[in-house]
Amino acid sequence: MIAIFIGLQSNVYASKDAVANGEYIIRITGCNDCHTPSYPEKGGNIPTSQWLTGNSIGYKGPWGVTYPANLRLLMQNLTEEQWVNFAKNLKARPPMPWFTLHMISESDLRDIYQFVRSLGPAGVQSPNFVPPGGVIKTQYIDFVPTSTKHWNGFSHITAK
Ligand code: HEC
Repeated sequence: MIAIFIGLQSNVYASKDAVANGEYIIRITGCNDCHTPSYPEKGGNIPTSQWLTGNSIGYKGPWGVTYPANLRLLMQNLTEEQWVNFAKNLKARPPMPWFTLHMISESDLRDIYQFVRSLGPAGVQSPNFVPPGGVIKTQYIDFVPTSTKHWNGFSHITAK
């Protein structure tokens, strides 16, 4: 009995550490800057309950218009294994720093999952990507390269 009790206790502590570390990684890798509404405007002063719910204000550029995904809903539909695999292989359009996700250790990715799942689902799906020249129905932030010299395209992107 005692052994079982100790075993359970240490699991509880391990998962608390995972959630706290997941929150820390999210904070310092800047995911909230785009995936949490008003986060930059409020200087990061947004409660965790509102984190990572996606954004309906798009980022418009030569790639079309992209919307930061609702990660709270995304992770509800993935197992921890699927999330690790998804993050390690993700390629996305600008300005999503997908290559940064590839560099996050597997253990930190698992902690991110534990943290986001601990918050539960919230919000609605973000609008769909709009290809260049398509009809835009939302607000957006315009990224306009000052010259084509500074725009080399994104060869990794294949239209979804
Ligand atoms: C500079 C803004 C920005 C930052 C910072 C950012 N993202 Fe994103 N993210 C986006 C945008 C925009 C998309 C949608 C890209 C597309 O449509 O291809 C996206 C897409 C994603 C997706 C793919 C969702 C799907 O269903 O395909 C995941 C997962 C994701 N982001 C996770 C993260 C995580 C985790 C972090 C922090 C490490 C992060 N993002 C940081 C803007 C950002």
